[in-house]
Amino acid sequence: MALRVVGVSGSPRKGNTEWMLRVFLEEVAESGTETELILLREMEIRGCDGCLTCEAGGAERKGTCRIRDDMEQVYPKLLKADGLALGTPVYFELLSGLLKNFMDRTCPIWPKLEGKPVVGIAVAEEGVGKALDNLRTYSSLCGMRWVGHVTALGKTPRQVSRDATVRKRLKRLAMKFTATLRT
Ligand SMILES: Cc1cc2nc3c(=O)[nH]c(=O)nc-3n(C[C@H](O)[C@H](O)[C@H](O)COP(=O)(O)O)c2cc1C
Repeated sequence: MALRVVGVSGSPRKGNTEWMLRVFLEEVAESGTETELILLREMEIRGCDGCLTCEAGGAERKGTCRIRDDMEQVYPKLLKADGLALGTPVYFELLSGLLKNFMDRTCPIWPKLEGKPVVGIAVAEEGVGKALDNLRTYSSLCGMRWVGHVTALGKTPRQVSRDATVRKRLKRLAMKFTATLRT
């Protein structure tokens, strides 16, 4: 069965993060891996209400959330994925609210993400601040295997595509990631 990689874009616009994730996934697909990009900006995902009922059963939790929205279709995709790519624009030196909201809502399944390889992508106008640390921290708490990251600077949508090094760095990360998927 073909390996499967899922990217998650935490940008509310069709901008730099999305472009980088698409390039990364295209490179990963070169190896025959199936890819899918989840655009949080197109989904209705409400905030976690903190009920914690999803934690019943510990690591063997049921994997469902009492909030019925588009996360219901995201859970099976994350669980089925052999690897993940998390992408965020930098907002006030942190990850975007969209991506954080998504992370919070993975509470019903996060223990089941253990062992999956993961990469991070972050885009800022001037500096990525703590955004990459945010992605690493979440990945580490879930027990995922951090493979690496690519950051880039740009303000307007797709501005980062004009920097040839970005594509090169994404390609290099995709190669490393693809090799990790097979170990
Ligand atoms: C609310 C907001 C906060 C931002 N904060 C920062 C910041 O702290 N540092 C920075 O370098 N860029 C900051 N930016 C600029 C974005 O990171 C930049 O426009 C980036 O290209 C957005 O990525 P996207 O095109 O994928 O949405 C901010 C933009 C917005 C809308």
